[in-house]
Formats: sequence, C-alpha cells, structure tokens
Amino acid sequence: MASDYREYEVRNTTVEDITGIVELSQAIYPHDAYRDDELRSQITTFPEGQFVAIDHRAKVIGMSSCLLIRAAAFELTDTWNKVTGCGTIRTHDRQAGDTLYGVDTMVDSPRRCKGIGTELVLTRLRLARSLGVRMIRTGIRLAGYGSVSDLLTPSKYVSLVVARRMTDPALSFMLKFGFHVKGVSENYLDNDPESAGCAAILDYEL
Ligand SMILES: CC(C)(COP(=O)(O)OP(=O)(O)OC[C@H]1O[C@@H](n2cnc3c(N)ncnc32)[C@H](O)[C@@H]1OP(=O)(O)O)[C@@H](O)C(=O)NCCC(=O)NCCS
Repeated sequence: MASDYREYEVRNTTVEDITGIVELSQAIYPHDAYRDDELRSQITTFPEGQFVAIDHRAKVIGMSSCLLIRAAAFELTDTWNKVTGCGTIRTHDRQAGDTLYGVDTMVDSPRRCKGIGTELVLTRLRLARSLGVRMIRTGIRLAGYGSVSDLLTPSKYVSLVVARRMTDPALSFMLKFGFHVKGVSENYLDNDPESAGCAAILDYEL
C-alpha cells in the first residue's frame, strides 16, 4: 500500500527505516523513544500495519503503527504498555482481532501542519476497511494536558477539547476524522511529561 505525493510518500515500513524512526522518536518523545528491537518486532509481527512517511531524500518524517486486538480482551483504562506489549505489538491477534488499535502516529516537528499526519491516519482507515474490522481504537496522548494539569482534571480537559473550548495538538487533530471519546486513561503512558501520562481513548466505527 503506498500513495505518492510531490513532497513525500507514505508506504509500509521496512527494516531499513528503523534508524530513521528511532531518531524521529528521540526528537518527539525524548523521555521514551522507540528502541530498534521494538520497531523490528512491529514490522515482523504485522507488516501491513506499519507505515512511514518519507521525504524526497528518503528521510523518515513520519510514522504510524497499529495492531489487531479483540476489543473485549482489554479494558478502556489499560495502559499503552499493556495493549501494545510494551511497543513490541506481541499482543497482536490476527485470528480473533476485531479492532485495529493505533499504537502511534507522529510527524517530524518542522514538517507538521502540511497534511502528513492526515495522510497517515487516512492510510490506517483504508487498511481497517480492507481488513474488514469493525472498529479502530486508539489511545491519544493529551499532548497539551501536562501544562494545565494543576488546573484541570484529565476528564475536564478532554470535555473542553471536545466542546472546542480548548485545542489539544493531538486530540483536536484526531477528533476531526470522526473519532469519538470512549474514556480517559490517567496512567496510559509512563514517561510523557507533556501529557502527564494521560490519554483519551477514541473509537471510530466502520
Ligand atoms: C498529531 C500529529 C501527528 C499531526 O501531524 P500533522 O502532520 O501536523 O497533521 P496535519 O498536517 O495533517 O494536520 C491535520 C490538522 O491538525 C491540525 N493541527 C496540527 N497540529 C496542530 C496543533 N499543534 N494544534 C492544533 N491543531 C493542530 C492542523 O491544523 C490540521 O487541521 P486542518 O486540517 O483543519 O487544517 C503531529 O502533531 C505529531 O506528530 N504530534 C506529536 C506526536 C503525537 O502526539 N501524536 C499523536 C498521539 S499518538
């Protein structure tokens, strides 16, 4: 699966992309960047679910990752580590999976707001349709919550973003595709000061 653009291309991830993804994640998640072995496991376990955006020099400027889960096997408040097998996606359930679960979507900071994140999400939507799953679920880190965590609960923050009285760099981005908030997980991430570890759990029914 690949889509061509003048400035970048979105295609399935290969092992040759791993170094570029590690470097990208070190810039975006300095406290919890991906390791080589996690990414290698993602590519081996579910190659169809792993995507990169690369620029015209073949530099990785974005990535997205997902796995198949049986939704009933997990709680909405489960952590990212639990659902994703600590990023290895060893929890991938090809046989009984009824839900495509988003592990991550990220775009290099200088390349944001140019539609690359949108293309990565739309590519995941196309994959979900081609697999015939009933739902996409994703835990979206509340990227702007850490700076207001002493003023608002995570649930209040999410309700204000949903009501468009506040914007969140990650949650506002995902809501525009038609995802619905199903819950808030207050201990979703271990090492993410920007979100204070909090995430909104979103569903998109196909
Ligand atoms: C979320 C993210 C992937 C979006 O990538 P992107 O390439 O900037 O996305 P797009 O250019 O397709 O932007 C899509 C929309 O989101 C909006 N948007 C992008 N960044 C935004 C921000 N910081 N605050 C508010 N809205 C933002 C854009 O304005 C655009 O809206 P529009 O289509 O109505 O104009 C990117 O900001 C990112 O990598 N963030 C860090 C990692 C992260 O938190 N990922 C998500 C949780 S897993």
